[in-house]
Amino acid sequence: MLRKTLLVFFGFYMMTLQSSTRVEAIRWLAMANMNSVITVQQPSLCDELVGLVKRQKTICKRNIEVMESVKLGAKLAIDECQYQFRNRRWNCSTIDAVRLFGNVLKLGTREASFVHALSSAGVAIAVTRACSSGEIDKCGCDRTVRGRSPEGFEWSGCSDNIAYGTAFSKTFVDARERRRKNKKKYGRALMNLHNNEAGRRAVEDHMKVECKCHGVSGSCELKTCWRAMSSYREVGERIKEKFDGATEVKLQNTKSGQKLVLVNPRLKLHTDADLVYLVASPDFCEPDDKIGSFGTYGRVCNKTSKAIDGCDLMCCGRGYETRRKTVAERCMCKFHWCCYVICKTCEKTIEEHTCK
Ligand SMILES: *[C@@H]1O[C@H](CO)[C@@H](O)[C@H](O)[C@H]1NC(C)=O
Ligand SMILES: *[C@@H]1O[C@H](CO)[C@@H](O)[C@H](O)[C@H]1NC(C)=O
Repeated sequence: MLRKTLLVFFGFYMMTLQSSTRVEAIRWLAMANMNSVITVQQPSLCDELVGLVKRQKTICKRNIEVMESVKLGAKLAIDECQYQFRNRRWNCSTIDAVRLFGNVLKLGTREASFVHALSSAGVAIAVTRACSSGEIDKCGCDRTVRGRSPEGFEWSGCSDNIAYGTAFSKTFVDARERRRKNKKKYGRALMNLHNNEAGRRAVEDHMKVECKCHGVSGSCELKTCWRAMSSYREVGERIKEKFDGATEVKLQNTKSGQKLVLVNPRLKLHTDADLVYLVASPDFCEPDDKIGSFGTYGRVCNKTSKAIDGCDLMCCGRGYETRRKTVAERCMCKFHWCCYVICKTCEKTIEEHTCK
């Protein structure tokens, strides 16, 4: 059955948002935390989705059945950001359901580029999945993938309709930037558009072929295959790699208008699939509301690691405290015929280091 759903905020969130309109983030991401799902078709309710810009509300009205996937895409993006950044000083934790990351994304930093790429990828994936599972009227599987392949298998089954998902992501997620005519913010809009696109490329450029064998006891006389997206975790890993290799750019006037160019011309020119940023990140060592930093006091760190999760870097040279902690673990697991496993619970003492 087709779910025609529309989501609205609790009044509480609406009030919170109004009192914090200065916060510049990807505000539509707040959809991830919407509680109530209204299962009626009432496009006028799109206007109540605070966090959306005007053009996004219009898109919402025309595509109500897609909005549940947009919400899911936002949720995927926030969860993946927290997973990928779990060992970093800024770990993508949110202040509250509406303000989300607070001021962190206000500046055009690498962190901002990462979140933009993740969220446009999140929407592309969530919408595409909904298409494949038949939840959205307007789209289904990709019917252009058919016939016999040069490798000798038959295209069949449901190929993910990535074209629809990425097109919707582009329309909805990019809407916020396209609205900006403000010269002062033009560089930032270009940066966001670039990174949104890079996020979608991380999905599009890595489609897989999945196959099934048919024939007597799996003899594979006939092999049918379809095109499928990578998992969102794999996409997240890929975007994290792009974050690690992100390129610093600046806005420059050219004959054909303004564009983003390399700050260091000796570096390799970024491609559409790379992340770009305009401003170096703060160090996130100290709590600071203005930049949305929580600081790293009390954060768990790894004594032996030389990377950013190591106590030296994580604690910004302040040193760390060590605590002994008892944890319970499953142990001495035995396999019983057939088919279950029974384990005991063992206690183990570990050392935990936290930043001073
Ligand atoms: C993320 O950082 C915040 C603030 O420093 C901390 O409270 C939280 O526990 C951290 N989350 C994880 C998963 O480490
Ligand atoms: C700490 O870092 C070391 C070296 O990078 C790594 O081998 C180890 O698994 C890490 N420990 C934890 C608990 O993450």
